[in-house]
Amino acid sequence: MNRLPPGPRNNLLVSLKYLREPYATLLETGRRYGDTFAWPGFAGKMVVTGHPEGVRTLFTADPDTFLALGAEMLAPILGESNLILLSGERHRAMRKLQLPPFHGARMRAYGQLMLDAAREHAARWTRGRPIPVHRTMQEISLQVILEAVLGLREPAERESFKTTVLEVIAALKPSFMFIKALRRPLLGLSAWARFQRKREEITALFADVLRARRASPEPHEDILSLLLSARYDDGHALTDDELLTQMLNLIVAGHETTASSLAWAFHFIHREPAVKARLVEELRGLPEPLEPEAVSRLPYLEAVCSEALRLNPVAPIIGRTLREGLTLQGYELPPGMDVGISILQVHRRPELYPEPERFRPERFLERGYSPFEYLPFGGGARRCIGAAFALYEMKLVLAAILRTYDLLPASDAPVGVSVRNTTVGPRGEVGLLLA
Ligand code: HEM
Repeated sequence: MNRLPPGPRNNLLVSLKYLREPYATLLETGRRYGDTFAWPGFAGKMVVTGHPEGVRTLFTADPDTFLALGAEMLAPILGESNLILLSGERHRAMRKLQLPPFHGARMRAYGQLMLDAAREHAARWTRGRPIPVHRTMQEISLQVILEAVLGLREPAERESFKTTVLEVIAALKPSFMFIKALRRPLLGLSAWARFQRKREEITALFADVLRARRASPEPHEDILSLLLSARYDDGHALTDDELLTQMLNLIVAGHETTASSLAWAFHFIHREPAVKARLVEELRGLPEPLEPEAVSRLPYLEAVCSEALRLNPVAPIIGRTLREGLTLQGYELPPGMDVGISILQVHRRPELYPEPERFRPERFLERGYSPFEYLPFGGGARRCIGAAFALYEMKLVLAAILRTYDLLPASDAPVGVSVRNTTVGPRGEVGLLLA
């Protein structure tokens, strides 16, 4: 048996290419080296598979085979208790506390605020010049997540949080994230020092929200309130620091991802007139006022969202670190090695998705896909906890806007793909015009 699959020799070159052209670089590496290849990972090589059988191996292995990827490197930045960085028993316990707000009826309580946010922001569009669809989607998804997570209903209160959240995200630089030596204050002038200041600001704002919430006798439906009353199995509550870390993580993980996926959906719908016609007709069949549950049950709308998430996944690659040795697609990998899944490569396999580069939502009505063939939200013990929330939001935002506005592509120029923080999204704007 081989220990390492083939892969590009020059790690730095591939990393730089990936930062410039993430999809093209990942797909090209898969074409050149096959379904399972060595890839420049976090700290040394990562073995990546783009084959559904490889995905099955990773998603069905005992969760204790893995540690969270990059936990040691990122804990001082993203918070030591951050769900995405926890492993083993601590991960299971923290996940158990965070899952209930995203389930069924709980999650549906957020439907109306999703519709309202979409209508409010689309009402600001003006006729005659290209609409910044991607920016609008970022504004909508940030508003939705702040309301859902923190219950910030008052626009003024939300504004100061919004500004500071965006500043924290902007202050988060790959330089100090991946190079520990750059985490120095340098008389308060370094990127690291700026990030620390922004984190202190958000902590102070969060402390105010927490104080107000604890003092308020009224019941609240937001995720913070649910986490405030949640208890670990041994009866103890989350500390304030744990709460802040999880809140920030949910806001960051839930906002850019949903916004980019929505922007791609708008883009593809308006490049395929037959798709748009079928979708608009399906939406017209619903009575006014729009009822979130009825929207979420529309089959073609669901297929459109699935196809946007398939064709341009915001997380083209996901990873874990091996705590124990594992055999992956014939390669015997040692403990300590990073392993990954090229979601993009799986989603572009022609035997699963004929004409894989085409936006064809019908494919999701014609057949079903296993969790190893279709995985925009990852899988196994670390599958995205916000998947249902994100899909619900995508459907409601598309429905609210496409029922009211007739949009046209502003140009037929291709829209590029760029790396945005830890995810991948449209490069620049997706321009549409009001018809
Ligand atoms: C279209 C939108 C979204 C996409 C495509 C997406 C995708 C993903 C992916 C690929 C992962 C990694 C899964 C793995 O490693 O197997 C993930 C994890 C996660 N996502 Fe999402 N996500 C989206 C929206 C959201 C939302 C709305 C939230 C919360 C409000 C959220 C919260 C999380 C959290 C907390 C994790 C870490 C789970 C864990 O490590 O146990 N995501 N997401």
